[in-house]
Amino acid sequence: ETRILKVDPNSIKFSKTAHIDGSLPIVTDVETERNLKEAAKIIRETNNTVGFPTETVYGLGGSSLNDQSVLNIYKAKDRPSDNPLISHVSSIDQLNRKIYGQQQVDDISQNIPTVYRGLTDKLWPGPLTILLPVPKTSTLSKLTTADQPTFAVRIPSNPVARALIALSDTPIAAPSANRSTRPSPTLASHVYHDLKGRIPLILDGGPCSVGVESTVVDGLVSPPLLLRPGGFTWEQIREMGGDDWTNCKFENNKTVAAGEKVRTPGMKYRHYSPQAKVILFAPQKNDLNLSHRLEIVKDVIEQHAQDVRKYAILSTFIFPKGLINDPRCIHKSLGKDSSEIQANLFAALREVDEMDDIDIIFVEGMNEEGEGLAVMNRLKKAASNNVTLF
Ligand code: TXA
Ligand code: MG
Repeated sequence: ETRILKVDPNSIKFSKTAHIDGSLPIVTDVETERNLKEAAKIIRETNNTVGFPTETVYGLGGSSLNDQSVLNIYKAKDRPSDNPLISHVSSIDQLNRKIYGQQQVDDISQNIPTVYRGLTDKLWPGPLTILLPVPKTSTLSKLTTADQPTFAVRIPSNPVARALIALSDTPIAAPSANRSTRPSPTLASHVYHDLKGRIPLILDGGPCSVGVESTVVDGLVSPPLLLRPGGFTWEQIREMGGDDWTNCKFENNKTVAAGEKVRTPGMKYRHYSPQAKVILFAPQKNDLNLSHRLEIVKDVIEQHAQDVRKYAILSTFIFPKGLINDPRCIHKSLGKDSSEIQANLFAALREVDEMDDIDIIFVEGMNEEGEGLAVMNRLKKAASNNVTLF
């Protein structure tokens, strides 16, 4: 009862200023237009939810303005409802009209604090999420904010996502479209696997190009914070945000005590986990030669793999293909550069997890620079902080 409808992102064209003034796209493929309209109608006219592609990961979307839609998102995912959601808008015009309830504004950006202007000018549409104060007269469902005084918003760049939001003319609340705790989906088939029978429709717009979720930043505190590393790197945020952002802070490896209030509640939960146990290797700047470092890795793998049926090794830059000579071992490369590794990460975890009898997934990590920060952030969660240095 969950339908998958194909859409062609290349058939959707926006004007250069559409993300500001809200002008509608031109859709040249008839089937794509029909399917987008059908999904938009579900968002606009029902309390139901739709799976759809963004440039980061597939989202599970429902109206941000409607409590019942937001409840249906949490329900389909089995997600605890104290974890707030990102509202996706197609334009700043839509943010002003639909969330701030303003028909006429003199300065279209007036609801975006100046601290964010450098970032939003350069990085929207794209994988950047900012926190804004919840307006007094907000139309947003309180369930999207989970009682925070702020709400999270972004303008995605994926044409299917933007067109769906523009055509429904509704801000769309959308977490990643996976079952809670599972790796995020980067293909429509991942969404189907996790949510079939629980949602009416999935728009299939092909693979997500970025592969990890958006970068979440908070510019309402001083110094500004990187709350979640993602599709834009920390380096990009510091460089492109203007003066305020050059010393933007990130609390890496922060763990949360029970009952502690955190600005990004998503940090509290088990996340990104395959069924198999994940063991992460993190490269160190050290004096050991390569063969010595690989001996450490082999020892750890052999120890853990003693009594298991099968296991997988996902490699990045250093592990050679023939690292382990064992018929129970499946080896897969995550990619040849950091963007490719980031784009393949979740799909690779899902792929080996679905193979029969795989009990452990060993993953070679990477340095926490550039894309490496977001990749390692997701991998440490998938591994429940089970990390071996090499
Ligand atoms: O790329 C993405 O951001 C994807 C796609 C679908 O757009 N969405 C996504 O949503 O990753 P989700 O729900 O999995 O992650 C939202 C993140 C969580 O870490 C949440 O805690 C944080 O944003 N967040 C949302 N509202 C917040 C708020 N008011 N204050 C602090 N953190 C907030
Ligand atoms: Mg998620």
